[in-house]
Amino acid sequence: IEPNIHASSPIVIGHRGAAGEAPENTLASFRLAAEQGSHMVELDIHLSEDGKLIVCHDDTLDRTTDGSGAIRLLHSEVIRKADAGSWFSPSFAGEKVPFLEEVYDLLPEHIEINVEVKDSAGSLLDRVLLDYLRGEGRLERTVVSSFDHKLLLRLKQAEPELRIGLLYAADLIHHATYAALLETEVWSLHPHHGHIGARDTEDALAAGLQIYPYTANHPAEWDKLISIGVTGIITDFPGLLNEHLN
Ligand code: G3P
Ligand code: MG
Repeated sequence: IEPNIHASSPIVIGHRGAAGEAPENTLASFRLAAEQGSHMVELDIHLSEDGKLIVCHDDTLDRTTDGSGAIRLLHSEVIRKADAGSWFSPSFAGEKVPFLEEVYDLLPEHIEINVEVKDSAGSLLDRVLLDYLRGEGRLERTVVSSFDHKLLLRLKQAEPELRIGLLYAADLIHHATYAALLETEVWSLHPHHGHIGARDTEDALAAGLQIYPYTANHPAEWDKLISIGVTGIITDFPGLLNEHLN
């Protein structure tokens, strides 16, 4: 049995960058997450009307920009005109909604990227995403997660090198057994942080799975997750989590 090198120190995964301290899913947020020592950043993607990979959590621009409308119905040129920073604070005015490639270009290569696929409406996204990730070194840097596990299976069948992570909000009876049902190699489980205990973690590790609960923002939540031995923690405050771990 391989020792779990993260047993007492989970990796720090910046949620939407450092969404507690910067406008979520902007380059400013990813830059801050990197400066704060994140090992990985999580982001959310959709496909625009013209087939570009757009980094945004919601289906629409309305909540996190001064623009509006459904991303899948908007041309990327329109999306790029939106201000994605001012809603958070005037000091972030002018931040754009990023293309996925900008995040890969921005972050140092040692920082891994957890791409959460939100818009799983069609096979076009599968193809565009895999075409992009097959570029130099990107597959190795990436874990693709989604609440849509059929989509993850499709991606894994099309690209066996891809690492996939199962996202779910339900409190499953047995997390590791569920992963095994997929009959394909799963890299990680991404459960809600409130739905995971010591036994679940032990079984996941024994099955060779990483376990990255989301989205834990408070020291008491971190302490619980650390004590049960998760291998990563998804948080809006990667800087504070790093301080806590150190
Ligand atoms: O990937 C973890 C977490 O981001 C899943 O939920 O809604 O924040 O994308 P949500
Ligand atoms: Mg997400």
